[in-house]
Amino acid sequence: MKLTRRAVAAGLPLAIAQPALAAPLRLGEAAARAGLRYGTAIEPQTVENDPAFAALVLDQCDLITPENALKWNALRPDRNHFDFAAADRVAAFARRARAPMHGHTLVWHEAIPDWAIHELKTGDPRALLVDHITTVVRRYAGRVVSWDVINEPVERNDRRPDGLRKSPWFEALGPDYLEIALRAAHAADPKARLAIADYGLEYDDIGWMVEKRGTMLDLLRGLKSRGVPLHALALQGHLLGDHPPAFGAGLSQFLRQVAALGLAIYVTELDVNDQHMAGDIAQRDRSVAEIYAAFVRAVATEPATQIVVTWGLADRYTSKVDFFPRPDGKPVRPLPFDADLRPKPAAQALADAFASRRRS
Ligand code: XIL
Repeated sequence: MKLTRRAVAAGLPLAIAQPALAAPLRLGEAAARAGLRYGTAIEPQTVENDPAFAALVLDQCDLITPENALKWNALRPDRNHFDFAAADRVAAFARRARAPMHGHTLVWHEAIPDWAIHELKTGDPRALLVDHITTVVRRYAGRVVSWDVINEPVERNDRRPDGLRKSPWFEALGPDYLEIALRAAHAADPKARLAIADYGLEYDDIGWMVEKRGTMLDLLRGLKSRGVPLHALALQGHLLGDHPPAFGAGLSQFLRQVAALGLAIYVTELDVNDQHMAGDIAQRDRSVAEIYAAFVRAVATEPATQIVVTWGLADRYTSKVDFFPRPDGKPVRPLPFDADLRPKPAAQALADAFASRRRS
C-alpha cells in the first residue's frame, strides 16, 4: 500500500510511513504548494467497491466532483421528488477525504429527464429551475464550495448573435435563464463560488475555439456588468491527444481577460483524448504527459487560476472508454494514473506543472 500523510494520521508507525528516498508523488500536495487545489471527478460506486482506487483518490485529491450524481437525471426521478442517494454517497466519500466538493452541474442541455423537458414546454419553467437550484444548493451548502451553475451555454453553431446555445433552458426562458440560475444559486448559498463552465476554449490554433473565447468573454462581461453573482469561468479542459499542444499567448491573453473581470479560473474536466493517437503505449503516454504539462503550465501561470480537476484519476475508470473508444480496440489511457493505479508520466507532468507556478 501507499504510505501517506493520511496513513500516518490513521496510526501507522512513522518509521514505515516516511520513505527515506524519493518523496511519493502527491498531486494534491504539489497543487497546494503552488496555491492550487487538485481533485478528481468520481462515481460513488467506484470508491465504494474498489478500496485500492479509493485509497488512490484519498492519497491524491483535495477536491471531489460528482461525475454524474448531481445532474438532473440523477437527482430528479420525477417532478415531485429529489433523489439525493448517489450525491450523498459522493458527499460521504468527500467527507472521508476531508475534501470539499465542486458541484457539477445545475443547468445543462443534457441529462434532463423527459418529464422536465415536457414541463419546460408546458409548465412554469422559471419555478422549475429556481426550485431545483434552491433545493440542491441549500442541501450541499458548506460541502459543495463551488458550482458549475451553467454548463456549456455557448454554441456558436446555433447562430444567435449572442452565441448562446438554444438549449431547453434557453428555449423556455430566453437568455435570462443564466441570470435566473446564478441569482437562485447565490441566494441559496451566498458563500458558494459560482462558475460558468464550457469546453472548446483551450486551443490557440483551432479557429472556432478562438472565436468561442470572444463569445464567452462577451457573455461574462454582460453578466458582470449587470451585477449578476458570478465568480469563476471553468474551462473543462478536454484536451486532444492527436493535436499539438497549442496553449500559448492566445490562451494566456484569454485567461488575463477573464481575470480582469474579477473572475477566478477553474479547470474542471481535464483529460486527454487518446482515441486516435498513434504509437506504442510508452510513446502515447509521453505525448499525453506533454499535453497535460503544456496546458497546466499555461493555466497555472495565471494567478487567477484556483482549481484543477481531472475527469477521473486512473484509466481504470473513465467515461472515455464509452464515448471515445480506440478504433484498434486497445484500452484508452486519458488520465494521470493507469488501470493498475500506477502513476503514468502524466502524473509527474502534472506535479511538475503545478510546481512551475511557484517559479513563475
Ligand atoms: C459525462 C460523464 O463522464 C459520463 O459518465 C456520462 O455518461 C455523460 O457525461 N462534459 C461534461 C460532463 O460537462 O458532464 C460529461 O460527463 C463529459 C462532457
